[in-house]
Amino acid sequence: MATPPSLILFCFLFPFFFISDATVPAADTFRYVNTGDFGEFDSEYNPNYRPLPPFTTPFQLCFYNTTPNAYTLALRMGTRRDRSVMPWVWEANRGDPVRENATFSFASDGNLILADADNRIVWQTNTANKGVIGFEILPTGNIVLRDANGNFIWQSFDSPTDTLLFGQSLQIGGPNKLVSRASTTENVNGVYSFVLEPKRLGLYYKTTMRYWSSSFTEVNNANGNLVNATLEIAETEYVDNYFNSLRCRLSNSVVEPTLDLDILRYNSTLSYLRLGIDGNLRLYSYRQNTRGNAWSLLFTLFDRGVSERGEEIEDECQLPDRCGKFGVCEKSQCVGCPTPEGVFAWSDDCVAKLPGCEASSFRYYEVKGVDHFTVKYSAGTGPVNRGDCESKCTKDCKCLGYFYHTDRSRCWIAYELKTLTRVRNSTRTAYIKTPIR
Ligand SMILES: *[C@@H]1O[C@H](CO)[C@@H](O)[C@H](O)[C@H]1NC(C)=O
Ligand SMILES: *[C@@H]1O[C@H](CO)[C@@H](O)[C@H](O)[C@H]1NC(C)=O
Ligand SMILES: *[C@@H]1O[C@H](CO)[C@@H](O)[C@H](O)[C@H]1NC(C)=O
Ligand SMILES: *[C@@H]1O[C@H](CO)[C@@H](O)[C@H](O)[C@H]1NC(C)=O
Repeated sequence: MATPPSLILFCFLFPFFFISDATVPAADTFRYVNTGDFGEFDSEYNPNYRPLPPFTTPFQLCFYNTTPNAYTLALRMGTRRDRSVMPWVWEANRGDPVRENATFSFASDGNLILADADNRIVWQTNTANKGVIGFEILPTGNIVLRDANGNFIWQSFDSPTDTLLFGQSLQIGGPNKLVSRASTTENVNGVYSFVLEPKRLGLYYKTTMRYWSSSFTEVNNANGNLVNATLEIAETEYVDNYFNSLRCRLSNSVVEPTLDLDILRYNSTLSYLRLGIDGNLRLYSYRQNTRGNAWSLLFTLFDRGVSERGEEIEDECQLPDRCGKFGVCEKSQCVGCPTPEGVFAWSDDCVAKLPGCEASSFRYYEVKGVDHFTVKYSAGTGPVNRGDCESKCTKDCKCLGYFYHTDRSRCWIAYELKTLTRVRNSTRTAYIKTPIR
């Protein structure tokens, strides 16, 4: 008599269940409901918030909202004793808020789940039955799910939004970018991203328009590719000169290029690098047990003037939105609104009139001595003569104008105008489309 197939299958599977059946001890599971009183301390974006029990100084999980009934589950940094505005350094559900009575739960199967009030799963770690036995917020701000051997089956450091904490990495083939937040009130992806690529770190406007990139000569000299970039302290010969830096690892090379941010002012590894709503990159460092001003801004990528060390710094004019929809920027100031009739005083209303599609419906006007925000960090095309550059723009309905350098015969086509940087060099000219009335 043959054994029924189902019994054979059962015998095969049975031992496996026992092997992979590590579960979370009942006492360590939790289920928190988004309900009850709001907290009273100042947090970034001035929201309402509800602190949840998981807390490891100075990190706390909270539900917060900036518009009624639209909550984000997020990790906040700071303590009430600091009396400083506490920043949000990690978020589970940007762009997909939950409502009152949403739940955040860690079940015995090891899955971490954020579900809305109607039980719709909004976010989860997908770690059910993967051997997870514990949940913890580490003192670094990394939220981890561990297995019995202490390995991280999941960690929040692998899903950054707009912030990198100390020890957190961007990785090629992994989480490779930060994406800005749209505005203080709207928690959805904004237009800026900070991306680790094989040959550079880059800042992009709308994913394709590069407005900054690192210049790591080591990357090309060593003919290697970047593998990851970690926010770390770079040690120098002198203890007082230790640097906060983004340290990059290269494949097939021992060279480790770094993006130096600023010297370590405080003995603190509680720092964070933030891609701001404005597309700027800033590093803040935390001084524990300081009242009122626990966060100090140590580094700003696009800034004003010269650095304390007398080095040339990136000017704010390099920020695409510094002068709004359209404007000429010089030394961090918006100094002009270029119109077909000449350059007028800049205001928020400064715009370039949208051209029609047909070549007969528009003409070009010149703006001398300016560059587009993409020019400094992208090669453009060329050598090409200006006529060919122009006809490329003319044939392209979406092209709003082009930027041309006569000294190297290079051409940049612009699909957005935004901020033009004044360069005071007669080899550079912008040609902006304007409708013919
Ligand atoms: C939340 O759930 C409680 C208990 O089920 C219910 O009384 C309350 O009305 C709910 N709140 C909202 C805003 O739906
Ligand atoms: C970064 O890359 C290096 C070299 O491959 C590796 O040793 C290191 O563990 C990586 N760090 C992270 C945080 O991934
Ligand atoms: C920094 O602080 C740690 C403890 O928080 C301490 O062990 C270390 O000696 C301090 N380093 C310096 C240079 O003060
Ligand atoms: C204009 O730019 C070119 C090429 O970058 C440079 O050689 C030249 O010196 C600049 N002229 C002025 C007036 O700055």
